[in-house]
Amino acid sequence: MIKNEEAFRTAYRSNLCGLLNAEDADKKVSLCGWVGKRRDHGKLIFVDLRDFSGIIQLVFDPSFGKDAHEAAKEIRTEFAIQAEGIIRPRSEETVNNEIPTGNIEVFVNKLIIFNTSKTPPFNLDDRESVDELARLKYRFIDLRTAEMQNNLRLKNRIMYATRNFLQSNGFIEVETPILGKSTPEGARDFLVPSRLNPNKFYALPQSPQLFKQILMFSGFDRIFQLARCFRDEDLRADRQPEFTQIDLEMSFVRQEDITSMIERLIRDIMLNVLDKEIQIPFKKLTWEEAMSQYGSDKPDTRFELKIKDISDYFKDSDVKIFKDALQNEGVIKCLCVENSEDFSRKDLDQFVETAKKNGAGGLLWIKVDENLNFQSPVAKFLSEKEKSDLISGLSLKPKNLLLIISDKFETACTVLGILRTRIGVKLKMISEDLFDFLWVYDFPLFEWDQKEKKYKSMHHPFTMPSEETAGYLDKDPLKVKSVSYDIILNGNELGGGSVRINNIEMQTRILKLLNVDLEKAKENFGFFLGAMEYGTPPHGGIALGLDRFAMLLGGLKSIREVIAFPKTQSAFDVMTETPSAVSSEQLKELHIKCEETDPEQ
Ligand code: AMO
Repeated sequence: MIKNEEAFRTAYRSNLCGLLNAEDADKKVSLCGWVGKRRDHGKLIFVDLRDFSGIIQLVFDPSFGKDAHEAAKEIRTEFAIQAEGIIRPRSEETVNNEIPTGNIEVFVNKLIIFNTSKTPPFNLDDRESVDELARLKYRFIDLRTAEMQNNLRLKNRIMYATRNFLQSNGFIEVETPILGKSTPEGARDFLVPSRLNPNKFYALPQSPQLFKQILMFSGFDRIFQLARCFRDEDLRADRQPEFTQIDLEMSFVRQEDITSMIERLIRDIMLNVLDKEIQIPFKKLTWEEAMSQYGSDKPDTRFELKIKDISDYFKDSDVKIFKDALQNEGVIKCLCVENSEDFSRKDLDQFVETAKKNGAGGLLWIKVDENLNFQSPVAKFLSEKEKSDLISGLSLKPKNLLLIISDKFETACTVLGILRTRIGVKLKMISEDLFDFLWVYDFPLFEWDQKEKKYKSMHHPFTMPSEETAGYLDKDPLKVKSVSYDIILNGNELGGGSVRINNIEMQTRILKLLNVDLEKAKENFGFFLGAMEYGTPPHGGIALGLDRFAMLLGGLKSIREVIAFPKTQSAFDVMTETPSAVSSEQLKELHIKCEETDPEQ
């Protein structure tokens, strides 16, 4: 991947360690890096020298370089050194096939120790077995490992390919404020007190949403940012309090203009970063299809196991749970798994537990025997017609296992979606080397927040309702669909965007439906609502999570692996020990008084 080795030549260094090969035999080189493994065989000392490009073996032979050999007795792991010498081919029996430079070595005649090192807190060659907290505390050492070097370089290639593609498609990169105003993106804001404006606060941006829309109002046509975003929310493996989005906005566009631009961007990134050709356009599912067939708005379509609706077979059922669900506008849904012998009784009990934990009343299972008879606690309550409908409707075969939930649409789908993923993993149905991109679109504009008893935007309040369903805005808001789209990669939400509302009447109507106090809205983003009254073009955009993208392309388990200095689950940076207390003078300048907190809480 390093195309211009020449550019790395410096006053100290002629070559990079990892790029040397047998064709360089007899060449005089000067190399710099860190000491890896070191073996002192008395007469000969062998040292692995490492820079970011790889490792090469140094040989200290007193008959070749007496002073260098003497100096090499002092060097230890992680010393920073410079070594000058001659490349020699290794004898056949000493070739090391584990590293690309394993058929050569450097006989050293001059050694400079730039700096010694304390014994590192962990072995760089065995990163996997080191506790993550230790790796984060000593991140400066962890970042030296080949894994972290590769991860950050992979992310850099995505950033580079993104900038190239977007620039060549007419996008310009425009910065927007970090010290800004709270935007309604759904998470809590990080606030920054203002010294010059006592008792006033800036909010760090959850995304540049409003600014990128205003840049469209202002005629820039296409803009992008690799935008740092800040959200004070519960953290998970794919969430950090500060993260980066590939964020873009386009004018005079419909949904298909934005999605096709993103497909071409992703195709370009896959080719440039991983040398992989992928097919566009991507598959598409409406939100309704994704939920009802896969039980998730970010379905993993790398495996087929689909959820089936069996409500029709139980229209006249005497089984109470089925009757109750259907009378309450609910559904009966099931997963049909090939071989019930893959699941123990304990597995089935765990499935029931999972269903209950995720809001369902329970879960029914049915095992189909050799004679297509049903073995199940519910079997004796099913009529012959219900059984035969199930057998023919689902083309049931001996040994099949049915997992059935009757509940509200979203609960039934979500629970079966969770079980579907678990079964996919257990039965190894997922091809790990696939990059499966998928659009999910046609989301509901609103969802009902049961706790706060009000509508919430499913995407954000600036999303356009679809023309076909806008008529329901007053009658039945939950029926309104939005012009929004999420891009999914292997069951992960990679990004999301929408066509935006571009007239003030519709924007005000939506804010009212969201129960947003209009006076408060004016205080918070009146600048934006005001700007909307000056000739707003049709526009839309999207943001892809850059860290998630890098994590998925690198086959990694957490976005902490692609962020140089990430925070822990409790939003703490263990290397810099941030956040931390500040001096009383600083607080005074900011007009802030801190409350005593109970350390037990
Ligand atoms: P959204 O909130 O869906 O959309 O975010 C877009 C993408 O950003 C990534 N992401 C995160 N990554 C890491 N840590 C987090 N805490 C985190 N939160 C989000 C995800 C997500 O899909 N303004 C809109 C975009 C638009 O409409 O143009 C927005 O921010 O990959």
